[in-house]
Amino acid sequence: MRVVVVGSGAREHAIVASLIRHHEVISTPGNPGIETICEVTDKDPESIDAELYVIGPEAPLVAGLADKLRADGKLVFGPGQEGAALEGSKAFMKRVLQDAKVPTAGFSVFSDFGAAKSHLSSYPGPYVIKTDGLAAGKGVKVTSDLDEAIEDVRLKLSGESFGDSGRRVVIEEAMVGPEVSMLVVTDGASAVALPVATDFKRVYDDDLGENTGGMGAHSPVPWADQAVVDEVMQRAVYPTLAELTKRGIDYRGVLYAGLMMTNQGPKLVEYNVRFGDPEAQVVLPRISSDLGQLMFEAASGRIESPVEIDNKAALTVVLASRGYPTAPEYGMEIKGVEKANGQSGVVVFHGGTKKADHSKLVSSGGRVLSVTAMGETLGEARDKAYRAVSLIEFEGMHYRRDIGQMAISEGALSGGEV
Ligand code: AMP
Ligand code: GLY
Repeated sequence: MRVVVVGSGAREHAIVASLIRHHEVISTPGNPGIETICEVTDKDPESIDAELYVIGPEAPLVAGLADKLRADGKLVFGPGQEGAALEGSKAFMKRVLQDAKVPTAGFSVFSDFGAAKSHLSSYPGPYVIKTDGLAAGKGVKVTSDLDEAIEDVRLKLSGESFGDSGRRVVIEEAMVGPEVSMLVVTDGASAVALPVATDFKRVYDDDLGENTGGMGAHSPVPWADQAVVDEVMQRAVYPTLAELTKRGIDYRGVLYAGLMMTNQGPKLVEYNVRFGDPEAQVVLPRISSDLGQLMFEAASGRIESPVEIDNKAALTVVLASRGYPTAPEYGMEIKGVEKANGQSGVVVFHGGTKKADHSKLVSSGGRVLSVTAMGETLGEARDKAYRAVSLIEFEGMHYRRDIGQMAISEGALSGGEV
């Protein structure tokens, strides 16, 4: 099958790496890593002929690219604009969750500063404040300091921090517990769960600093076993799909459930409408069956084939630019990628790189590379990933050194124990 993959990040690099095992892939616009494994073009996806179109990032989904392609008679993996609003508007998502009776944090929606401020002042915190619209994973403030919370709301509602995405905010009850990302592939009615992953959202070790798009991930996750997966399917995924169907929304693609394992059981933090980044970099390498076939079936409205999982564990470490996530600096020459990529069991996915003069590789985004390793255990995957990281350098590069630490200290976990 000929498949077009839309996007240019490390997630799309991981999608392409899985698809090329069975299919011909064309990537638009791609990146310097993707162009080493498949054909890359700048053409619009509409003008490329293919049997399947896979849309990687949320922005084109929220903008309605899937609808446009479907209107042309093309087969698309990814929800249309109405379904993508689950990620494009947190207020919409929370209303769907409420109507579907999915366990989640209580919430209120504000666009008026005075009302938001008096709401915040009415309880002791901690305060969780989210931009309603897209913010590349950076629109959430969690703080126990009332003044900081009020200032965050002011910056968001005034448009100063996130433009129009922040002019409406969702203020939520704070939840506590380890986090899990559960990605399911759905044809709108049935759904299959992919291996569970966990993401490291804060920029510094020990979960300190600002929220980011994700600084690392691993799969499996010891605090989310099959019973958790079954519970989330029954209490969140299926009720949500039924609620979307009731609203006339035919959702085909990935539904990403971000969960917090609270002492009252798993609760939904958010839905995303595409593969997680960096979750895709650890989930997709663990799928041993044909990803393209699964996507084709979901896009066609009928998932039939089972998903086969590799028992190995996978772990990825994101290498970020100086200043990320607040004010990342780009254009630094990157060295050592080929050497790291040549290590056994290691793949370096490109997130924010480009080719500069004389085909030098330079940084061009906040999250530059995603260094992924597979191992018999998470411990082995982590050792390999960090060894590969030590071979790469660029000015200002920073990364977390504790990816996988909590899982590994909970016991020498084997990759098969999901
Ligand atoms: P989101 O973009 O909604 O996934 O939020 C980003 C991160 O903020 C989550 O992964 C959590 O770490 C944190 N977060 C979001 N909502 C809550 C909440 N209600 N309580 C505590 N932490 C939260
Ligand atoms: N890693 C979180 C996300 O993709 O939104």
